Amino acid sequence: MSERTRKKVTVPGLRARKSRGPKIAAVTAYDATMGRLLDEAGVDLILVGDSLGMVVQGLSNTLPVTVDEICYHGRAVARAVRYAHLVGDMPFMSFQVSVEQAVENAGRMLKEGGFESVKLEGGVEYEQHVRAIIRAGIPVMGHVGLTPQSVHAMGGFRVQGKGEDSAARVVADAKALEAAGVYSIVVEGVPADLARRITDAVDVPTIGIGASADCDGQILVCYDYLGMVRDLKPKFVKRFAEIGDAIVEATQGYVKEVRASTFPSEAHCFGMGGKRAVGEPTGNKPVVDETRTSYGPTSED
Ligand code: KIV
Repeated sequence: MSERTRKKVTVPGLRARKSRGPKIAAVTAYDATMGRLLDEAGVDLILVGDSLGMVVQGLSNTLPVTVDEICYHGRAVARAVRYAHLVGDMPFMSFQVSVEQAVENAGRMLKEGGFESVKLEGGVEYEQHVRAIIRAGIPVMGHVGLTPQSVHAMGGFRVQGKGEDSAARVVADAKALEAAGVYSIVVEGVPADLARRITDAVDVPTIGIGASADCDGQILVCYDYLGMVRDLKPKFVKRFAEIGDAIVEATQGYVKEVRASTFPSEAHCFGMGGKRAVGEPTGNKPVVDETRTSYGPTSED
């Protein structure tokens, strides 16, 4: 779709995709540069996930992530994203304590993080929390199945809903969230049959991660599908690129040239006088924000 015909993705628009299609393509992002690239690529939805604890902060789970941190990264992504719907993940212990705490923190996420909706993990037990957040005018995305904030209760990051009892519980969670008014539900780490069952059972779009193509959309952590986390390869991740290898290779080239004094060359240096433009024009027109400025001089002027 061209820049001229592309429209801002909204909550009603996302809801309507259940019946109208096309499937929802969602990703995570944690900074402005990545947000700008992914928005330009045409994704429908960007989540500033608490996965940032693992892929940005280097933690072994998402539990220590705070509302302040999600909002900090949210503000960065919000500055760059023009079309995709921007969702903020409610961190562990930012909504579980009480309905009041949930509404207050969801409000902070919109006011301080620049988010357009919030996501929270859990089902039946948080129905009232979800209702109250939505009553305050804040759209909510649910998250059922493998819920990483319950890593210790689950005994690790394990596929959920493998037996009938556990599958029925996940379906009940999704139905409770739908009844509470969520506009979509992330379905994570469940067998394909269960993903289909949930998708058939609810009238809002399901967005799968490790949950088969039978969902109404998919979401992946950007560092995973871009191949930036090179030492881990979860089964549900497809690497659409090997950016991690490209980064190491490019940086090896930089190290080599610095040591050989071949970088910076004349093209990257400034003269004393005159107005000679230096550097090659890149040919990359800024697509997202025509008024963006570079963080350094681009010419002699
Ligand atoms: O935190 C996150 O990135 C998520 C997605 C994986 C759904 O919750």
